[in-house]
Amino acid sequence: MRLPRTICSCLVLLLVSCRGLQDIAPAVQSGMAGDPQRLAEGRRVYLESCTGCHSLQAVDELSAEKWDAVLPGMAKKAKLDPESAAKLSDYIMAARQWKAQTNTTAGP
Ligand code: HEC
Repeated sequence: MRLPRTICSCLVLLLVSCRGLQDIAPAVQSGMAGDPQRLAEGRRVYLESCTGCHSLQAVDELSAEKWDAVLPGMAKKAKLDPESAAKLSDYIMAARQWKAQTNTTAGP
């Protein structure tokens, strides 16, 4: 059968060509600043509420200032309540800070 093999190769290509989720929105780590429970809720908001219109931006793709400028408008688009928006912001800031410190990712 040709088709399934083609589909498999496409999936593999897709996986290696995209940044992995751990790179885009890393799971909450003990080294991240803030309450882990709250950060985990913020991460869940990000994964669940911010994928409807576009793919996720890596947490370190934007500067902290840029995130601060973008998040209020996006929270409105995603119809987040203020508490969820605050948790999301806390997660993104903590995660990008953590990534900057650990700098584990190779590549462009
Ligand atoms: C209703 C659709 C919609 C939802 C839901 C949505 N976005 Fe967006 N987002 C857009 C559109 C459209 C743009 C590009 C135009 C703009 O900046 O308004 C965008 C752009 C962005 C950008 C790039 C901004 C820039 O200037 O580089 C980021 C970052 C972003 N969104 C984050 C988020 C986050 C975080 C959430 C979840 C809270 C979210 N988006 C939910 C529609 C959406």
